[in-house]
Amino acid sequence: MEREVVKRLEYLREQIRLHAYRYYVLDDPVIADGEYDSLFRELLSLEEAYPDLVTADSPSQRVGGQALEAFAPVEHLSPMLGLDNIFSRSEFVEFVEKVYRYLKSDEPIHLIVEPKLDGLAVELVYRHGIFVLGSTRGDGVTGEDITAQLKTVPAIPLRLFTTADTIYPEELIVRGEVFLTKQGFAALNRQREKMGEPLFANPRNAAAGSLRQLDPKITAQRPLSFYVYGIGHTVLPAVPDQETLFIRLRELGFPVNGLIRVCTDTEEVERHYQYLLTVRNDLDYEIDGMVVKVGRLDLQQRLGATARAPRWAVAWKFPATQVTTVVDAVDFQVGRTGAITPVAHLRPVELNGVIVQRATLHNRDEIARKGLLIHDTVLVQRAGDVIPEIVKVIPEMRTGQERPIRFPQNCPECGQPLVQPEGEAVVRCVNRYCPAQQLQKLIHFVGKNGLDVEGLGKKNVEQLVQSGRVQTFADFFTLDKKALSGLNGWGEKSAENVLTAIEKKKNVELAQLIRALGIRYVGEVTAGILASHFSDIDHLMAAGKEQLLQIEGIGEQTGTSVYEYFEDPDNRATVRQLFSAGLTVQSVQRDHASLNGRVFLFTGTLSTLSREEAKQMVKAQGGQVATSISRRVTDVVVGNKAGSKQKKAAELGLALVNEAEFLQLVHREAK
Ligand code: IVH
Repeated sequence: MEREVVKRLEYLREQIRLHAYRYYVLDDPVIADGEYDSLFRELLSLEEAYPDLVTADSPSQRVGGQALEAFAPVEHLSPMLGLDNIFSRSEFVEFVEKVYRYLKSDEPIHLIVEPKLDGLAVELVYRHGIFVLGSTRGDGVTGEDITAQLKTVPAIPLRLFTTADTIYPEELIVRGEVFLTKQGFAALNRQREKMGEPLFANPRNAAAGSLRQLDPKITAQRPLSFYVYGIGHTVLPAVPDQETLFIRLRELGFPVNGLIRVCTDTEEVERHYQYLLTVRNDLDYEIDGMVVKVGRLDLQQRLGATARAPRWAVAWKFPATQVTTVVDAVDFQVGRTGAITPVAHLRPVELNGVIVQRATLHNRDEIARKGLLIHDTVLVQRAGDVIPEIVKVIPEMRTGQERPIRFPQNCPECGQPLVQPEGEAVVRCVNRYCPAQQLQKLIHFVGKNGLDVEGLGKKNVEQLVQSGRVQTFADFFTLDKKALSGLNGWGEKSAENVLTAIEKKKNVELAQLIRALGIRYVGEVTAGILASHFSDIDHLMAAGKEQLLQIEGIGEQTGTSVYEYFEDPDNRATVRQLFSAGLTVQSVQRDHASLNGRVFLFTGTLSTLSREEAKQMVKAQGGQVATSISRRVTDVVVGNKAGSKQKKAAELGLALVNEAEFLQLVHREAK
């Protein structure tokens, strides 16, 4: 009896898989939805009767399993990079020229173009043809384990097809985009509106929010879909180019987008771009541009990547879309450095699937240049993720109700007179004790561009400041459970989490600390330059203006700003307080000026460049390459499938760096 059940179960699963494939991948179903549903119901009831016979790859397992406590981290075997964006024909031509130059080739190179899907990048791992691990991109190096959530996406195969001529490696890693259809997005938001829940701003956020549900049963209710666009570090046998790769992936059961084209010249690429622009609105999913890739995989390999993005691909974005709306009011925000930014409050309007209600007006001159009045009808645009901006006023739509925008004479927060320094467009509050500036500084200090303390976003910092718990940078480090749990809305758990997150940031890299201080003109790049020139913060604080200005990459404005910042006794005290509160800076003994004196050892295969190219990069910058492990080695670069060398290196306590870190190193040092 049991054998028969097993056979029937296998038959049902096979049929369901096949029909799902015909439906989702081939777009060519042969049975009616009702018939498919009845197969599915039979499978479910049989599995209910024989729970021991349920397999992990059974289509029934899509409905969502146990809820999770938290997402486990997943290290990507090769980094998941982003793409560089371009916006024009000339930038595209430049991209192509760069490819030829890098490859030193005159031979024609074909390109493949794909719609740029506006969803969420995921990585899927198949072992022996079974889906075993799925993750988000995360920071590119480490993502989150969302296997259970991804299993609920019907378009993602749980098990790959094998036919006589399709073989897959023991382990196959594919990458692609999970997205919501426009219809699915609209339906989801309608439902949320009914339930009084906050609406998702756009399909991409909705997709991300759906995948990052700890309870996969919720994910299962969201109409998510998937297209594959590439592979991880795996090499499929006999696949010379991206188009063959797509054919193979489709045979294996992955949905491949139908608007992908192979182009033999740049005109063809441009034509397809124009074509995608015209069909864009008719598609059932959002696309925000076109991805252009070098077709041949061996050339992709040779081109490799910078720290950020591959050299063999580029995202040619669509121009920003524009809509008209009305400016209801303008208010004035005080930034971290005292800059006053006028912000327009717009009558909410949808743009590219996003509800827009505010637009930056940059500064006083900008308002004058645009001739903007309150209640004016304006044209608004949004390019990518940036803050929406007002393109122009439409004076023909004036009704006579408009009134001028009064730029304040005094700081809206502290009341001190505002100043506009000679030759500058920005109006500032120069009261360094202005509470609004202090608050912004504190928000920046622990925010994404500062120490990046998890759980200390804008809202929480505001609350900590308003309740008097935090006044200075150092105060973050002396917070305790008692101080936090007394606050409205804070439970024991959230207090604990934040305290742990703060503890983690007690030991920081010098560059991160410098950036977190919020010195004017000092962003990530400048902070990195300063950190590599000064062995510790004391040396930086003691540096003379001349010394700062001599550093390559530090201009007059920035150098002066850094000098003035550290000349100020209050700022020096701020930094010292941090150390008294327990902050430590990771010591950097390396000579960052070049790779001089550093000896690299490679183990495992690199995914974005060949071993030879990597060695060349090291040598070009004065470093040496070793072939075996010894105490002489300063850096061990660990690629995929690294062998015994990695173990030995770890035993010797040598510094291990992954591919992304290595790329960053050679890239940064190259400058
Ligand atoms: S290839 C290493 N192809 O765009 C290059 N990406 O801006 C990997 N995306 O993180 C990307 N459609 O999430 C590629 N056809 C496509 C894509 C695509 C959408 C997303 C992807 C990536 C982001 C980069």
